[in-house]
Amino acid sequence: MKITSQTKIVGILGYPIQHTLSPQMHNAAFAQLGLDYVYLSFEVKPDKLGAAVRGLKALNITGVNVTVPHKERVLEYLDELSEEAKRLGAVNTIKLKSGRLCGYNTDGEGFIASLRAEATDPVGKKILLLGAGGAARAVAVGLANQGAGKISIANRTKERAEALVNMLKHIAPQVEATSLSLDDNRLDKCAAEAQLIINATSVGLKSGARPPIAINSFHVGQLVYDLIYNPAKTKLLAEAEAGGAKILNGLGMLVYQGALSFEIWTGQQAPVEVMRDAITT
Ligand SMILES: NC(=O)c1ccc[n+]([C@@H]2O[C@H](COP(=O)([O-])OP(=O)(O)OC[C@H]3O[C@@H](n4cnc5c(N)ncnc54)[C@H](OP(=O)(O)O)[C@@H]3O)[C@@H](O)[C@H]2O)c1
Repeated sequence: MKITSQTKIVGILGYPIQHTLSPQMHNAAFAQLGLDYVYLSFEVKPDKLGAAVRGLKALNITGVNVTVPHKERVLEYLDELSEEAKRLGAVNTIKLKSGRLCGYNTDGEGFIASLRAEATDPVGKKILLLGAGGAARAVAVGLANQGAGKISIANRTKERAEALVNMLKHIAPQVEATSLSLDDNRLDKCAAEAQLIINATSVGLKSGARPPIAINSFHVGQLVYDLIYNPAKTKLLAEAEAGGAKILNGLGMLVYQGALSFEIWTGQQAPVEVMRDAITT
């Protein structure tokens, strides 16, 4: 890659940031298409977020991804928001357009694209979604917009699951949405009946931890999708696979949400397979 005075800069703001795979994924895509861009990672401590985002304007940076812990707080520094970002109250992509910072959220669409890439369609499906944080909200809205049949949302803090259900009832009243706490004794039945189980909690990031679903809830004909991609096979996925379920980790979502950010910045179709290969081989 030859960096010149014309090279456009994109990147990612997060804290911590040293484990991100996004630079290798996007730089491989720029190289593949011969685009004069470079993607860098920026470690931005929470108390420096405002200065960092204002700096994007000052330095005429083309755009950035935004990750933990800044996705929600970054809104206050932006000039415009997409409908999706407004609805979710979270931004994972910023583009500088004519001097204005515009915020987008590609997580939900990225998740749906990753499902479709595995020939799975959410239409009419019974779904158990674990979690009600930023990623879970994006996934829930994506699923509801795509015609999911029934979505049960289970979260440690039940009020957050209830708030997400209320949001779904507002934007997609045709979807049957219910909330549970993670210790509700209906959770295992819900899991056994679900055709799609999604873990959007951070439980499993540390090896050995797993959401509290009984092992015998998993069976053939189910898809169990863990948004976590490191470790590649969480304890939840290992147990689901042993029970006969098809499993997916969060790499697909990472690739597709990144591909959508790439398209926002460059206006070009992202080379999805190149991006995937860059972080898996
Ligand atoms: N593959 C991808 O591209 C992708 C994209 C985004 C996120 N993710 C992954 O998705 C997960 C969630 O991310 P996020 O951005 O939504 O984070 P977040 O907004 O902080 O939400 C965290 C969620 O995990 C739950 N949780 C945390 N610790 C828990 C525990 N000990 N027991 C039970 N529940 C617990 C929280 O429940 P409470 O509400 O009770 O706190 C909340 O539902 C992370 O693992 C992240 O790496 C993956």
